[in-house]
Amino acid sequence: MASGSNPGEPPAVLRDRCVTGIHGLDDILGGGIPRGNSVLVAGSVGTGKTTLVLEFLVRGAERGERSLYLSVTEASEKLLQNLATFEFFRPGLIEQGMLTFLDVPLIYEKLGLDREEMTPEEVGLLVRTIAGLAAELKVQRLVLDSLTSVCYRIREAERIRDFMLRLGQALFAQGCTTLLVSEVGESPGRLSLYGVEEAIVDGVILLGNTRRQGDIIRVLQIVKMRGTSHSRAQYVIELTPIGLLMAPHLKGGRMAEA
Ligand SMILES: Nc1ncnc2c1ncn2[C@@H]1O[C@H](COP(=O)(O)OP(=O)(O)OP(=O)(O)O)[C@@H](O)[C@H]1O
Ligand SMILES: [Mg+2]
Repeated sequence: MASGSNPGEPPAVLRDRCVTGIHGLDDILGGGIPRGNSVLVAGSVGTGKTTLVLEFLVRGAERGERSLYLSVTEASEKLLQNLATFEFFRPGLIEQGMLTFLDVPLIYEKLGLDREEMTPEEVGLLVRTIAGLAAELKVQRLVLDSLTSVCYRIREAERIRDFMLRLGQALFAQGCTTLLVSEVGESPGRLSLYGVEEAIVDGVILLGNTRRQGDIIRVLQIVKMRGTSHSRAQYVIELTPIGLLMAPHLKGGRMAEA
């Protein structure tokens, strides 16, 4: 059963949704991500985080929502080459300004953020710069891939909390829905590197690997999503050239709870 709604209670006022356009995901979220939410996309290496967030932006751009990808770990040029292998991508989206790729290391360089550890003032400057870019480009969808890499340069839990709260508030005020990629190790239950990130965000989508009859399969689970009821079941996903495909996880021949 979907969590978050009690029988007999009047229906809550529904928040406007950001329709992800990703197969199956909007159904398990009751129509999409509540608009303006900041959502952690957490998972260990190779679990499909970048693929999911790229598809989220492309599907949004196709729906007329301007989208911005802030890349920290991979050069945009390389990402674009990978993106071109997906059938749902049209280069026209970039030419029309619907989809923009920016490299965060270049932003650091422009701002003169060359220290290994950012000061509180520098963290403030980074928040204002990202929020300013989002406003200037009028984006409704933003991805930071990865939040973890930025946190490595903030280091202190208190400052990470401050960075995330201020960024989340600024982007919410602009009606921008944000996906923040969180790189985690294989240890079960872990959602972020510093352990504070998942408490601040409005939602957490967890990607992972699991074994079924000797095969390693990819799985996705919504751990939390403020502003909507949602399934907490685990879904099997496949990353294909036509995009992410999702199906309920069959456990011992039974359909997983959805
Ligand atoms: N064009 C594609 N078509 C089909 N599958 C793909 C394609 N591109 C990537 N994949 C699959 O997706 C997997 C995971 O890719 P992705 O880069 O999204 O993971 P990630 O979680 O972001 O990894 P990392 O933590 O290293 O950044 C790849 O190992 C590959 O199996
Ligand atoms: Mg990645």
